Amino acid sequence: MASEKNAHTCVEEMRQVRQARKFLAQPVADDLLHEVLEVARWTGSSRNTQPWRLIVVTDRAQLRQIGALRAPIAWVADAPLAIAIVLDGDNPTTESYDEGRLSERVLIAAQLLGLGGGVAWYGDAGQQAQAKRVLGIPEERAAHSMIVLGYPETTKDHRPNPAQGGRMPLTELVSYARLGERAK
Ligand SMILES: Cc1cc2nc3c(=O)[nH]c(=O)nc-3n(C[C@H](O)[C@H](O)[C@H](O)COP(=O)(O)O)c2cc1C
Repeated sequence: MASEKNAHTCVEEMRQVRQARKFLAQPVADDLLHEVLEVARWTGSSRNTQPWRLIVVTDRAQLRQIGALRAPIAWVADAPLAIAIVLDGDNPTTESYDEGRLSERVLIAAQLLGLGGGVAWYGDAGQQAQAKRVLGIPEERAAHSMIVLGYPETTKDHRPNPAQGGRMPLTELVSYARLGERAK
């Protein structure tokens, strides 16, 4: 019973994972980073190809260069740490799916450990190429995004053009048997 209660608490925490873009000026503790990286390592991927490598970035100059790629990720410049995802580039469709799985697991683990963070998307092909140069990634590999981590100050979207918050209700989200059919 106690473990069921823990599970519900855990699920409730998962439900509350939100994108954080503002962080305290406090470095991420090494042991927490290690735990998060272990979660990333064990993420499942298509045919267990593990088509990724991760780059831990704490250098302020690099974070500023990434934040300068485009306005919606300007906040990266002030973050304590980011994990850049490098993909093999062999199968864009499955690798994109794998990238999303890894990112979400890392963000859930971070939240459970008292951290927070979010996804920063480099942008179009030209911006991705610039990000690769900053991060020492060869041209032939794929790199779309980094997972930014820290101790969140807020999860309010402080950007000049914030994304709309909230979610659609379950009644709109879910159909039964055929798209658009509601439960009887
Ligand atoms: C593929 C992808 C790319 C994203 N790119 C950015 C980004 O470049 N900048 C940013 O601030 N948030 C980015 N986000 C975060 C979304 O804006 C965020 O998940 C969404 O607004 C929901 O936020 P919430 O969970 O805090 O409600 C991205 C999310 C995903 C899944």
